[in-house]
Amino acid sequence: MDAEAPFGVNSRPCTEEPMSLEFDHDVCIIGTGRVGLPLGLSFVEVGVDAVGVDVDADLRAAVNGGQMPFHEPGYDALVAEGRFVVHADAAVAARSRAIVVTVGTPLHTHIETDLSQVRRVLEGLIPHLRPGQLLCLRSTVAPGTTAFVRRFLERHTRFRIGEDLLLAFCPERIAEGKAHAELRTLPQIVGAEDEASRAAASTLFARLAPEILAADYVTAELVKLFNNIARYVHFALANQFALVADTFGANIYAIRHLANHQYPRSHIASPGLTAGTCLRKDFGMINEWSPYPDMLLSAWKMNEYIPAFLVKHLGQRVALHDRRVAVLGYTFKQDTDDTRDSLAPKLVRYLERELPLEIRVTDHHLADPIADAGNGPLKNWPLVEALTDVDCVFVATNHTGYREALQALAFVSPETWVADLWNVSGANQVFFQAGALLR
Ligand SMILES: NC(=O)c1ccc[n+]([C@@H]2O[C@H](COP(=O)([O-])OP(=O)(O)OC[C@H]3O[C@@H](n4cnc5c(N)ncnc54)[C@H](O)[C@@H]3O)[C@@H](O)[C@H]2O)c1
Repeated sequence: MDAEAPFGVNSRPCTEEPMSLEFDHDVCIIGTGRVGLPLGLSFVEVGVDAVGVDVDADLRAAVNGGQMPFHEPGYDALVAEGRFVVHADAAVAARSRAIVVTVGTPLHTHIETDLSQVRRVLEGLIPHLRPGQLLCLRSTVAPGTTAFVRRFLERHTRFRIGEDLLLAFCPERIAEGKAHAELRTLPQIVGAEDEASRAAASTLFARLAPEILAADYVTAELVKLFNNIARYVHFALANQFALVADTFGANIYAIRHLANHQYPRSHIASPGLTAGTCLRKDFGMINEWSPYPDMLLSAWKMNEYIPAFLVKHLGQRVALHDRRVAVLGYTFKQDTDDTRDSLAPKLVRYLERELPLEIRVTDHHLADPIADAGNGPLKNWPLVEALTDVDCVFVATNHTGYREALQALAFVSPETWVADLWNVSGANQVFFQAGALLR
């Protein structure tokens, strides 16, 4: 990093400068999913001429028909205006001054980043790249990936990065459900290794972000991963504390309240089913480069154990065999419609091994039937029906509305056993009979 761009310095350039007229669009977003679509719409909202490219025909039909293909607050009116168009063909990228890549970067079944979507995008872009364009990688990637992209582009084109083609890593750090606000409030990290790339990427993202923070490629890649992994480990520790408290017959909610109350030096998170498309996989992007057991691997094991813990421990209080069991929530996170890498399907699979009479999955953020999230399509029970004459309830997701539903259950079915690690009920117990909510 050179002296003119030290880390942490707000290198926000002039944002009012008009972009070149030789391109039809200011920016082309490739991969208009949960990250790319909100980004494209937010650009449009601030007057940036943005277009999208996506291989998913259903997603294109929804967006180009004025509908959000998934739930993300703040964008319904913007998408209905029809100013952000998603194309099937990456050729539109040739007419865009900047290209932002926001395709998926999952893990393989092994501890290994699956870069196939990024590679396919790069291969598809090669014939369309033009001198002066900026390519921003925004998908979450393993350290070293932007350097790989640089080598890939220089191998397969006549361009030199920093001279006639610009390259930056500009990570997305929004939380799903908060994209609209956070795209305008979070500082934007810009990882670049030449001045021209850094300036171009900073100019683009300064249209949205209040502050631009300069870094090199690997620093920017690690910032994104460390932000997510810190959260994942924080939640794993909360889950471990819940298990330790259970071992000693102590109450984790009382301990957490006392530990956090007016205490300035540590904050214990709520225990729960911690997973999801980003948190669950991002640790693997570090772990694939280390052969040793470490805290990240332990955090993974801890979070992954929670469904088994809940089934095993409720099963010690009431035999699940031949019972009617309800599972509240199937998404990975509160009040979203995203089931990717949710632990709820795993919980259901463990329940199936107990051979209950019936497992009723309910999630009012999902359609009926619930699309395959690892267990095939499932009937999505209406919440009230799922709780009618039910023997056991597992709260898999802390959706708004479950507290009231469990309180209603307490009146009609006080004997029903509940496993509620999230403590959505406010019972302040992980395992309890619904009648406890009346006391
Ligand atoms: N979801 C989040 O909250 C979040 C937050 C920060 C970072 N990220 C990261 O952002 C990246 C994207 O995540 P996402 O949640 O938006 O994934 P997503 O699956 O919702 O979106 C990716 C999109 O890319 C499209 N796509 C795949 N290959 C393509 C190709 N060759 N050409 C054009 N389109 C293609 C897919 O059809 C899909 O619509 C990931 O690296 C993720 O880790 C996600």
